[in-house]
Amino acid sequence: MILTNDPARLGLTAALVAGYGLVCLLPWLRARRARAAARAARAAAGDSPWLVAYASQTGNAELLARQTSETLRVAGIANRLCEFDELDAATLQSTERVLFLVSTYGEGDPPDAAARFAQRLMARSDLALGQLHYAVLALGDSSYASFCGFGRVLDAWLAARGAQPLFPRVEVDRSAPPAIATWRQQLSHLAGTSDAPDWDAPDFSEWRLAERRLLNPGSAGAPIYHLELEPAPGLALPSWQSGDLVQVAAPADPDRPREYSIASIPADGRVHLLVRLHRHGDGSHGLASGWLTQQAGEGAPVRLRLREHRRFRLEANAERPLILIGNGSGIAGLRGHLKARAAAGQARNWLLFGERDPAHDAFYRNELEAWQREGILPRLDLAWSRGPDGKEYVQDLLLRQVDAVREWVGEGAAIYVCGSLEGMAAGVDRVLREIFTDEELAEISRSGRYRRDVY
Ligand SMILES: Cc1cc2nc3c(=O)[nH]c(=O)nc-3n(C[C@H](O)[C@H](O)[C@H](O)COP(=O)(O)OP(=O)(O)OC[C@H]3O[C@@H](n4cnc5c(N)ncnc54)[C@H](O)[C@@H]3O)c2cc1C
Ligand SMILES: Cc1cc2nc3c(=O)[nH]c(=O)nc-3n(C[C@H](O)[C@H](O)[C@H](O)COP(=O)(O)O)c2cc1C
Repeated sequence: MILTNDPARLGLTAALVAGYGLVCLLPWLRARRARAAARAARAAAGDSPWLVAYASQTGNAELLARQTSETLRVAGIANRLCEFDELDAATLQSTERVLFLVSTYGEGDPPDAAARFAQRLMARSDLALGQLHYAVLALGDSSYASFCGFGRVLDAWLAARGAQPLFPRVEVDRSAPPAIATWRQQLSHLAGTSDAPDWDAPDFSEWRLAERRLLNPGSAGAPIYHLELEPAPGLALPSWQSGDLVQVAAPADPDRPREYSIASIPADGRVHLLVRLHRHGDGSHGLASGWLTQQAGEGAPVRLRLREHRRFRLEANAERPLILIGNGSGIAGLRGHLKARAAAGQARNWLLFGERDPAHDAFYRNELEAWQREGILPRLDLAWSRGPDGKEYVQDLLLRQVDAVREWVGEGAAIYVCGSLEGMAAGVDRVLREIFTDEELAEISRSGRYRRDVY
C-alpha cells in the first residue's frame, strides 16, 4: 500500500470514492422514487383498499389468500382479507379491486363459507359491477366431475355483471405448484413488485408409525384402524389444536397427499388417526389407506405434515356447549374435541354418533363411557344402521330430539359435524333445516357455530 499526504492526491481519492458511491446508489434511489411515485399515483386516484376474499373448506384457499394479502402489503398496496361471509352487494359495488380465492366442494358446490353468497348474491342478475376489477384463483381436484366448479361459476357471474378480469382465471388442480406460481407471477406483475415473500407450503417431516389397532374386528363394514404416530427420533412433537388435519404422503403417490382428521391433542404425545381401509371397485386397496393400514409395519417411517383447519377448530366456541355429530371415521375429529374439552374441564358436550352395528362398530366405547362417568359427556346418542332395532342414522336421532337441539342451540351451543359428506352430513344439514328456519341456520353459521369437517 502506498501512503501519501499530498493534499491534491487525497482530494482526488475522496472524489473517486464519492463518485463510485453515487454510481452504486443511483439505481436504488431511482427504483425507490418509482415505487413512491406508483404509490402516490394510486393514492391520488382515490384507490380504495383491495379486497382479498377467500372461500375455503380445509384451509388451502385460506393460506393462499393470506400469502396473497401479504404480497400486496409488501408491495405497498393496502388490502383487506375477508371471508366470503362478509361480502355483500354494497361491498362489491363500492370496491374497485377484488381477488377471489375459492375452492369447490360437494359436486361443484361452494365451500360452506360461501354457501350464502352463492344462494343470495349470485342469484341476483340486477347487480351492476362495472367498476369492479377482479381475478379468480380456483382450487379443485380434476378427479371430480365439476373441476373448479364454483370458481368457474363465480368467474362467469362476475363477468356477466360487468366486472372486468385483471387476468384470466387460474385453476389449481390438487394444489399443483405450477398453477400457484402462475397466480403469484400475475400478482407480482399487478403489484409491481419482485420481492414477494416466500410462499412455500410447510414441509413434510418424518414420523414413525408407533401403534396400530383394528377397531372393528368381525364387522361387516370396511376395517377401520386406530393409528398412533410420533416424530422420528430427535424431532420434537409440534403443536396443533383439536380439529386440525394431517396430510400423509404415501410412498406410492407422494405428490398427492391424503388428509386425515387428528383424533388426539398434543398432551397425548402422539398424533392419533382413524383410517378406514378404502377399497376400489375392483377390490384393490386405496393407495394411502391400504399402505397405512396393511403394508406399513409398526415403526415404519411416515412422511406427514400438520395442517391448521381453522374452520373446524374450537376457537371462539371453546366455552360454549357443543353438539358433536358424526359417523364412521368422523369420530376422529370429534374425539380430538372431546379430549380438548375434558382437558379444559368443559362439560356441556352432546355426542351423536352413527355406525353399522353395536356388536362390532362401537369405536372407543370404554373411553366414551369413562367420559360419561366423569360428567364430560352428559348426553350420548348412538345410531346403528344395521343394529338389532332396525336402521337408524344420526340425522334420525337429531330429528327425534328437536326440542333438546333447540334448547342447546338457544343456550349458545355450537354444532360440529365430522365424517362422510354424502351419507351423513347432507342428511344432518337437511334435518337442521327442518329444525331451524333458513335465517336461524344462516345466523348460526355466520357466528361460526356450525362447523364441518366432511369428506
Ligand atoms: C378433510 C378430510 C379429512 C379426512 N379425514 C379422514 C379420516 O379421518 N379418516 C379416513 O379414513 N379418511 C379421511 N379422509 C379421506 C382420506 O383423505 C382418503 O381420501 C381416503 O383414505 C382414501 O384414500 P386412498 O389413498 O386410500 O384411496 P385412493 O387410492 O385415493 O382411492 C380413493 C378414490 O379416489 C379416486 N381416485 C384415486 N386415485 C385417482 C386418480 N389418480 N384419478 C382419479 N380418481 C382417483 C377413486 O375414485 C378411488 O375410489 C379425509 C378426507 C378429507 C378431505
Ligand atoms: C368432499 C370433497 C368434495 C370435493 N368436490 C370437488 C369438486 O366437485 N370439484 C373440484 O374441482 N374439487 C373438489 N374437491 C377438491 C377441493 O376443492 C380441493 O381439495 C381444494 O384444494 C380444497 O381447498 P380448501 O382447503 O381451500 O377447501 C372436493 C374435495 C372434497 C374433500
